Amino acid sequence: MAAGPIPERAGRPVRLGVVGAGLIGRVHARLARALDEVELCAVVDPSEHAKNIVQGTNAKWFSSIEEMFSAVPVDGVILATPSALHLSGALICIARRCPVLVEKPLCRSVAEGETLLARARAAGVPVLTGHHRRHGAPLQRARQLIDDGALGRLVAFHGSCWLSKPDDYFDVAWRRGDAGGPLAINLIHDLNAALHLMGDVATVHAFAARAVRAGPCEDTAAVLLRFESGALGTLSVSDTAVSPWNWEMSAGENPDFPHAGGSCYRITGTRGALSLPDLVLWRHERPGRGSDGKQAPGADGTQAAGAAAGQGHWLDPIGAQGLAVAVHDPLRAQMRQFAAVIRGTQAPLVPGEEGLRTLRLLQAARESIETGRSVAPGAL
Ligand SMILES: NC(=O)c1ccc[n+]([C@@H]2O[C@H](COP(=O)([O-])OP(=O)(O)OC[C@H]3O[C@@H](n4cnc5c(N)ncnc54)[C@H](O)[C@@H]3O)[C@@H](O)[C@H]2O)c1
Repeated sequence: MAAGPIPERAGRPVRLGVVGAGLIGRVHARLARALDEVELCAVVDPSEHAKNIVQGTNAKWFSSIEEMFSAVPVDGVILATPSALHLSGALICIARRCPVLVEKPLCRSVAEGETLLARARAAGVPVLTGHHRRHGAPLQRARQLIDDGALGRLVAFHGSCWLSKPDDYFDVAWRRGDAGGPLAINLIHDLNAALHLMGDVATVHAFAARAVRAGPCEDTAAVLLRFESGALGTLSVSDTAVSPWNWEMSAGENPDFPHAGGSCYRITGTRGALSLPDLVLWRHERPGRGSDGKQAPGADGTQAAGAAAGQGHWLDPIGAQGLAVAVHDPLRAQMRQFAAVIRGTQAPLVPGEEGLRTLRLLQAARESIETGRSVAPGAL
């Protein structure tokens, strides 16, 4: 719930500090400099390369969060450090009563995430999670179509995140450790999307392989989901496999990736099917025939019985309706929303609780991989 406008933050740019200026932190810093409603006031990163980012700007460089807080007034922090440092960094921000947007995954474990959110709640400090795709048009439109009943009762979800990372991606030490696999770095976005579109997950079963890179963590995984609604889902990830079937390449939202178009998710229900992020809706054109293939009269003799339920017939023509929406940069939209949360005019679109919900699902998948058993995320 938005707390109401905060007068001293109205009418001037919101002062943001970016903590961790690596791959994604640099993108946040660039966006903060480009947006009118935001001012990049600090970059925190102990590495030498980070000093270059503030050159020629009004922002200041610091080697620690504490130094930043004691030197400059900061309205909000974007925490883009390696995931193992999310909890400690966020707790410092919360102690300073400073709203913080924590990159995904929220923390290393559910226990850490619960600690973080309990402190945030007690202090009344907004915590957001960096599941930025939720700020983009494709997921928002898809959710609206589902809510409007365009797919009928949801039956199944299928998604892929197959991409090929170069060797030098793993030159960074933490990415060679157990947090560096594509489950926590890449698939977590898709797990969040699946939760958002399909609802909570009752049971997970997962497999992982590390045959190609032979590192300490998976390079490939497959995750089977049973949603609480009864629908089923399958998700597959690999960072050693060539394909256009990942969100970044199919959505075209991220200028750093080639745009291949097409889809990486398919959702089906009793009335229709939807591919994402290209938003193509498939439906039979003459719904409501009986199982014998004939149009069946309804109770009033005019409407086909199945048409009321909207069920298609497999022999009827199936039509594709393109519902493509204008693509915009969801990282930019996320930062604007963070500024509005800091001002007290909006509630977080993707609060920390949503990061924890996704982390619970990730942890359940990992536990299933380790034990060979199905795991209920709700029990973690
Ligand atoms: N939302 C997304 O699409 C997205 C994309 C990439 C990464 N991420 C997430 O962002 C986080 C960072 O990933 P990355 O790939 O940018 O990592 P990275 O290694 O490229 O960058 C991390 C930076 O943090 C700095 N750092 C280390 N310790 C620090 C400390 N104590 N204080 C301040 N800075 C410190 C490092 O020097 C480095 O520059 C991870 O949690 C990752 O999962 C999110």
